[in-house]
Amino acid sequence: MLDCYPNTRHLMQHQQPEQPLYLFHKQLLEQSIDQFQQGFPGLLTYAVKANPSAMVIKAMLQHGVEAYDVASVAEIKLVQNLAKSLDKTVTLHYHNPIKSESAIAEAWHQCGVRSFALDDEFELAKLLKQIPDPASTELSVRFVAPVKHEVILDLNSKFGASVNGAIKLLRKVHAAGFKASLTFHPGTQCTQTQAYVDFIACAADIAKHAQVTLHRLNVGGGFPASYVKSFGPELAQYFAAIKTAVNTYFDVPPALVCEPGRSLVNDSVSLLLKVLHRRENGSLFLNDGVYGGLLEMKVVDLGWPMLCWRQGQLIDGERVPFKVFGPTCDSIDVLPTPMYLPKQIQDGDYIEVPLMGAYSSASATQFNGFLSDAYVQVKVSSYCSIQQASSLPLVAGL
Ligand SMILES: Cc1ncc(COP(=O)(O)O)c(C=O)c1O
Repeated sequence: MLDCYPNTRHLMQHQQPEQPLYLFHKQLLEQSIDQFQQGFPGLLTYAVKANPSAMVIKAMLQHGVEAYDVASVAEIKLVQNLAKSLDKTVTLHYHNPIKSESAIAEAWHQCGVRSFALDDEFELAKLLKQIPDPASTELSVRFVAPVKHEVILDLNSKFGASVNGAIKLLRKVHAAGFKASLTFHPGTQCTQTQAYVDFIACAADIAKHAQVTLHRLNVGGGFPASYVKSFGPELAQYFAAIKTAVNTYFDVPPALVCEPGRSLVNDSVSLLLKVLHRRENGSLFLNDGVYGGLLEMKVVDLGWPMLCWRQGQLIDGERVPFKVFGPTCDSIDVLPTPMYLPKQIQDGDYIEVPLMGAYSSASATQFNGFLSDAYVQVKVSSYCSIQQASSLPLVAGL
């Protein structure tokens, strides 16, 4: 096995993987990091939950990402260990608003984390109990703006203080001597720049009524990736809208932080799947499914392109709908919408699914003993080369 294959064709000449294989296109990740580093008017942090694979995080560290949004002590340790192995220093924001007291204590005392999120007073009580030095620690109050926007998952149904709740909490955080910040998340795959503008206007209102000068404002993740059926404006438009909104609504604009997951990593990973079985009725069984890397396909139809391979060659022709099952014995392991694949697809063929960097291997289980966690580096993404070669019909949905 090579450390890095030049392209999928080359990989398939060397191996026909039995297990799902994630093809990591490092250059695409680097381009995406550059876009945020050069365009976002503040600090870039990476939301590890979107893709915690060591190969991806190492590439982030090597390409200058120095700050990470983590959701658990396990993620803290993962990033710290990888950083140590590369002799890098990292800053961590523990931005899961609900944490156990023991996790807060471990993060602060053992791991040196100095930035936490919260959205109610019970969490503040836990933080106060476990943190001996508030002055060194940033607490970011997570709030929800009353306006609703177009997103695929509304994370604010679970977290976020109301405007009035945030005003009270921010005051208390400040009075307790912490560095007082605000944070929000407009929801993942947010396709409207206006969402950020509305949340920033709301943040300015909260800070004003609380009479607190913010240490920082974290505008969350939510920036969209470009799928076939769901995409937003260029990232540059989000950055411009955020910059203008902060200057418009705040008398003294706070330092900004963002914590993208999906849009930072999504393009840089493709998932290579094997067809295990084709039934007479045309349904297909793949070596991965909704308990593995395809969970998001069960939840939302964003439109993933698909390329098909047979013996190292791309195959195409008329595409027809196939009902697709995963490899487990559970009947819910089935995709809710058909995959459009070449009519002749059969056992032993491969399906390459680009745009699978976010929330794919990250949420895969080992149910029934099926793993979906192996990564390999592949220099050129088939999706990009096909788009450049203008043979677009090879990609379903375009
Ligand atoms: C606190 C927090 N920050 C950032 C993210 C990343 O969001 P996205 O992948 O939509 O950019 C999430 C996603 O759940 C989150 O909960």
